[in-house]
Amino acid sequence: MSTSSWTLLSRLAVSSALVSLGHGIAIPRSVLQARQISDPSELLEAYDYVIVGGGTAGLTVADRLTEDNKTTVLVLESGSFANPADVLPVTGGGTFRQPRMQLTSTPQANLNGKTFPVILGHMVGGSSGVNAMMTARGSAEDYDRWGQLFGEEDNQGWNWDGLLPYFKKAMTINPPPADLTKRFNITYDVSYWGTESPVHATFPSFQYPGLDPLVSAFYELPGVESTQDSGSGGAGVYWFPTFMDPVNFERSYALNAHYENLGRPNYHILADAPGRRVLLEDGTATGVEFEKDSEIFQVSASKEVLLAAGAVHTPKLLQVSGIGPRKVLESAGIETIVDLPGVGQNFQDHSSVGAAIELPGLRDIHPNANDLSADPEFRQWAEELWAANRTGPYSIAFGNVAAWLPLTAITPDNFESLADELENQDHASYLADDADPTVAKGYVAQMLGLAKAMRSKDTVFSRYYVNATTGATRPILNQPFSRGSVNIDPADPFGNPPIVDYRALSNPVERQVMVELIKWYRRYNFETSLKSLGPIEVAPGTNIENDEDLAIWVSEGMNPSDYHPAGTAAMMPLELGGVVDQTLSVYNTKNLRVVDASIMPVLPGANTCQPTYAVAEKASIQIR
Ligand SMILES: *[C@@H]1O[C@H](CO)[C@@H](O)[C@H](O)[C@H]1NC(C)=O
Ligand SMILES: *[C@@H]1O[C@H](CO)[C@@H](O)[C@H](O)[C@H]1NC(C)=O
Ligand SMILES: *[C@@H]1O[C@H](CO)[C@@H](O)[C@H](O)[C@H]1NC(C)=O
Ligand SMILES: *[C@@H]1O[C@H](CO)[C@@H](O)[C@H](O)[C@H]1NC(C)=O
Repeated sequence: MSTSSWTLLSRLAVSSALVSLGHGIAIPRSVLQARQISDPSELLEAYDYVIVGGGTAGLTVADRLTEDNKTTVLVLESGSFANPADVLPVTGGGTFRQPRMQLTSTPQANLNGKTFPVILGHMVGGSSGVNAMMTARGSAEDYDRWGQLFGEEDNQGWNWDGLLPYFKKAMTINPPPADLTKRFNITYDVSYWGTESPVHATFPSFQYPGLDPLVSAFYELPGVESTQDSGSGGAGVYWFPTFMDPVNFERSYALNAHYENLGRPNYHILADAPGRRVLLEDGTATGVEFEKDSEIFQVSASKEVLLAAGAVHTPKLLQVSGIGPRKVLESAGIETIVDLPGVGQNFQDHSSVGAAIELPGLRDIHPNANDLSADPEFRQWAEELWAANRTGPYSIAFGNVAAWLPLTAITPDNFESLADELENQDHASYLADDADPTVAKGYVAQMLGLAKAMRSKDTVFSRYYVNATTGATRPILNQPFSRGSVNIDPADPFGNPPIVDYRALSNPVERQVMVELIKWYRRYNFETSLKSLGPIEVAPGTNIENDEDLAIWVSEGMNPSDYHPAGTAAMMPLELGGVVDQTLSVYNTKNLRVVDASIMPVLPGANTCQPTYAVAEKASIQIR
C-alpha cells in the first residue's frame, strides 16, 4: 500500500478518535449490578411483575418498570450470563462465540424438503447480544400498516408517528466523525434519534475505500434514491450506525444498557431458568412456573406476567399454559383455558436467496486497503490503531451502508403486475389447510396492505448490503408473503422445543419476487460501472438464465431465516386472528401481556433489534 493512502486512512482515524473521546461520556466497566439471583431460595415470595425472557425486550421493560423503586421485577432467563469477551467485540459483526440456541425447522416442502437451522440468541441480553449490530429501523409505512389493521380510530399510536418517540427513547445516536462524513458522503439527521438512552448507536471511525464504486453503482439503476437518515422511515440507499458505545467501541446491548450499572435492589434476574408455563386462575395470570437445575419452581406475580421469550418461545409458553388453538392444544393433551386460534400462527421471518456475484477488481482499489485478512501490513496498522485509540478498521462491525430498495426500484417493469396478482389471489388457499377463519381473515388484510406497499417507493422490500472487499452480498427479502407456524410438539409439549415451520414460498408471489431480487442483483453487477471490476457469478450461475429456471433455482438457493422471527402473538383485532390487543394484553385473559417481537403483526423491512426496543419502550409506558 502506498504512503499516501496510509496517510489518508490514519488521518481519518485519528480525527475520529478525538471526536468520539471528546464526548466525555464515561462507560465504566466495573459494574454495580442490580441483584443477580443464583438460587430460587433467594427469590421474593411475589414480585409485582415477572418477565419471562431476559432479552432485548425483557430487559428494556424490566429497566423501565424498576425506575420506580417501589416496583419489584423478576426476569427469568433460560440462557446464562455470557462471557463478556465473547459478546462485546464488534469487529466483523460479532465473534460468533455468543451463546445461541439452535433448533431445526420442519422439512420445507417448497425448498426441496430441506430442514433449516432456527438460530436464536440464548443469553441474558438475548439476541441483542448475538446479532450483527445493525441498527435499521424499517419504513414508516411498515408501522402504519400495523395501525391500519385496527383502523385509524383505534390504533392507539401503533403507527409511525406514534412509534417515533419510542424509537428516539430507545437509542442514543453518536454521529460519524466529520472527516469520514465528507469523504464517504455519509448523511444523517440526528432529529430522528434520541440522546438519553443507555443503548448507543455509533458510527465506526473508519470505512473502506472499496465502498465508493459499490455505493455509486446503486444510483445507476432506475428508481434508486438516497435516504438522508436510516431512522427517517424512508427507503433507498442509506448509512446506518452500529449498536456500539462511543467510548470503548464495544457492543451496546440490552444487558449492558438495561441492567448493568443500575444498582437497583428491586430488579432481579435469575439466569439458566427457563419459564415453563404461566400460572392462571380463572384466566388471570398469577405467576410463572420455571425450571432451575432440573427442578420445578413457582413464583407469584402480584400485578402482571410479561412474556418476552421471543417469537419462537413465547407462543410455546402460551400454548403449554392452555392459551392457543384448541386443536393444537388437544393434540398435545393440554387443557384449553382460552381458545385463541392465532397463537403460534402468522409466523414470519426475513429470508435470503444465496445468489453470489464476486467483484475481483475491488481488490485493486487502494491496493490492500480493503481487506484485513489479506494483507499483514494493513492488518498490523489496523491493530495498532485499535490498541492505541480503538479506531480504524476494527471499529467496523458488519458495515454501515446498504441499498434498502422498494419493489418499484427492484422491478420497475413488473411491480404493478405482481401487486395486482397479490391483490387478486385467493389468499386463504395459501395458508395451512386447517387455518382458522379468523387467522385467514387476518392474512387477507395483511396481503392487501402488502400489495399497496408493493406500489410504493417508500416501503423497503429488499436489502443489498455491500462489503467493500467482496461486493454486494446475497439479497434479503424484507417483506415475507408466506406465513408459517410455531406450535408445541404433541410428543412432549413441555420438554421438546416447539415445532417451527416457515412454510417458505407457500404464497407463489414470494417466489416471483425472489426471482426479481436475483435479476436486480445481476443488473447491479453486470449493467453498471461495476462491470469494469470483472464480476463473476458464482450462484445461481450463468447457465440459469430465464425467469422459469430462476424460479426453480429459488427452491435450491433460499434460506427461510434471516434471524428475524416475529408475528406469533400478533397484535391484531381478535376477529383477524390476533393474540394481543393494542395494549399488548392477551385476549380473554387478565394480567398477561406479550412485549417482544411476537406481537409484530407484519415484519418491518429492517433487522428486528431496533423495532423490538421501540415496542418494549412503548409497552413499558402502557404497563405503568
Ligand atoms: C425511592 O425513591 C424515592 C424518591 O426518589 C426516595 O425518596 C426513596 O428513598 C427511595 N427508596 C428506596 C428504598 O431507595
Ligand atoms: C462520494 O462522492 C464522490 C463524489 O461524488 C464519489 O466519487 C464517491 O464515489 C462517493 N462515495 C461514496 C461511498 O458514496
Ligand atoms: C491515538 O490518539 C492520539 C490522540 O489523538 C494520537 O496522538 C495518536 O497518534 C493516536 N495513535 C494512533 C496509533 O493512531
Ligand atoms: C467482508 O467480507 C470478507 C470476506 O468474507 C470478511 O472477511 C470481512 O470481514 C467482511 N467485511 C465486513 C466489513 O463485513
